[in-house]
Amino acid sequence: CGIVAYVGHRDACPIILKGLKRLEYRGYDSAGVALLTQGDLKVYKKKGKVADLEEYIGDQDTSSHIGIGHTRWATHGEPNDANAHPHYSSSKKIAIIHNGIIENYAALKTHLLNKGYEFHSDTDSEVFVNLIEDIRENNKVSLAEAVRLALHEVVGAYAIVVISHDSPTQLVAARKGSPLVIGVGQEEYFLASDATPIIEYTNEVVYLNDFEIAVIRDGKLDIRSKEDVVQTPYIQKLEMELESIEKGGYPHFMLKEIYEQPRSILDSMRGRLVAENTQLTMSSIREYATRFKNADRIIIVACGTSWHAGLVAEYLIEELARIPVEVEYASEFRYRNPIIREGDIVVAISQSGETADTLAALELAKSKGAMIFGVCNVVGSSIARATDAGAYTHAGPEIGVASTKAFTAQVTVLTLISMMLAEMRGTMEASALRQLMMEMEQIPARVEKALQLDDEIQAISEIFKDATNFIYLGRGFNFPVALEGALKLKEISYIHAEGYPAAEMKHGPIALIDENMPVVVIATKDSSYEKIVSNIQEVRARKGRVIAIVSEGDTVIPQMAEFVIEVPSTHEALMPLVSVIPLQLLSYHIAVMRGCNVDQPRNLAKSVTVE
Ligand code: G6P
Repeated sequence: CGIVAYVGHRDACPIILKGLKRLEYRGYDSAGVALLTQGDLKVYKKKGKVADLEEYIGDQDTSSHIGIGHTRWATHGEPNDANAHPHYSSSKKIAIIHNGIIENYAALKTHLLNKGYEFHSDTDSEVFVNLIEDIRENNKVSLAEAVRLALHEVVGAYAIVVISHDSPTQLVAARKGSPLVIGVGQEEYFLASDATPIIEYTNEVVYLNDFEIAVIRDGKLDIRSKEDVVQTPYIQKLEMELESIEKGGYPHFMLKEIYEQPRSILDSMRGRLVAENTQLTMSSIREYATRFKNADRIIIVACGTSWHAGLVAEYLIEELARIPVEVEYASEFRYRNPIIREGDIVVAISQSGETADTLAALELAKSKGAMIFGVCNVVGSSIARATDAGAYTHAGPEIGVASTKAFTAQVTVLTLISMMLAEMRGTMEASALRQLMMEMEQIPARVEKALQLDDEIQAISEIFKDATNFIYLGRGFNFPVALEGALKLKEISYIHAEGYPAAEMKHGPIALIDENMPVVVIATKDSSYEKIVSNIQEVRARKGRVIAIVSEGDTVIPQMAEFVIEVPSTHEALMPLVSVIPLQLLSYHIAVMRGCNVDQPRNLAKSVTVE
């Protein structure tokens, strides 16, 4: 979910609605705003997109200098008008926006029902706001104090902002586990789940920490701990450009982000790699050089596309640096009493840096004494802050829900880390390492060239746009790419797609192959090339329709595949950065042709801050 709030001298509603649009990638089941005018607390909320909310508000008078807004990704209760945020308390005196889950909401709700509180939704958030009201009434305390006391009663994750009809210049916010950024302007404040709604007004921000409460009253910001100890706000400068969160002439964010990759990969390498001098610089790795050099095992935890980047890293680190690697779904790792030994390093990979399962997995590993290294895209995010050390991917804001440039940036950073580990551990010949580094420097140019395949891929998309199933196959470094290609297609086009290791196909998915089944095979020239050629034959023998991603100049596969897409050659360890490009474009075009909302696919959210 995404939350936005404003208090200051401007008209709040347009600022909040615009902010919600910027945050819509975090959830778009329903949206709402609550505004306070002369003691009147009004809530407008609607199922659907922010645009539906805007239409619903129409030309009603919404002038106000203080308000809160929310865009929802449903957890408790289906997406409908009643479950949309903000939620009123029973008396309609207080309104709340909430991101996260209150785990003990059922017990709290029973308690409040017994006291006569009424509920109009199925949400845990409505319980939260009534709890605040109950505490305020019972104890005759201020709104801020009631919020503080309520935090002692709730179990779970939250970022909340609360307003009350009798405090016309006051916003009260709190966080635990869900992000909250406060933009500090000239006697005005902007609160949001991330910095994107804030950047056009101010570049000075405060990241609220877990268990902190922020009270903005009469133009002043006061931050306290849950125990009521005053905290000094740490104001940071944002380094985000406004154009990086706008479409810049592209029809969709996803296409813009696909096209940004030559640049974003370069940004991920900037200052970290100078092949000419065989120089690799990543201060966080150097700082923990002894730990990394002597690591017995690296455990990678992540979700979704980031997990795929982790799989690429497994191949890279084992091949180049000879350290055993395990790649774990964060959600599984955290609940199975994992074995963590001294000498293990846990690497958490996350674009948003907010994924609840990944955060919990790393906290578990930390509690068992592991060193935690983060690979995050969003600067200042929860995961980035919870790690001992880390490397930012510097891909810039990624708005499209299906991850593209964040994936290649993650793989870039993980590749550099693998090279550094190889150098530190002496597991690669100096000349081979230098050559790999030289090739790495060429990757942005190779990606640029791969993007020129767009027209060709569009034509292939036209042919397959009505397919109901797809299989993606790859081996070695290209196996995770097959998984990622399949994930991209199902996420945005709703076509069922499976990624598989090409040789494993014969143990199951081969049963699905007939003359209607498109099979995308990533078969670039590498050490398993001959083997994958045989796998293509196996598909052809069952009349499957092969779309092969091959290296430039391949003369063998074009004779057996129905369609071939030639990508620029590179070192096999770097190929995922190139071979994933046509798969991103294929899923994009198919989804557009099917009339899907590529930037905001149904049921998904960019940043999953609930487990
Ligand atoms: C969500 C997003 C995916 C993303 C995954 C992990 O499911 O839709 O694109 O890969 O979360 O997110 P993270 O921010 O941790 O990389």
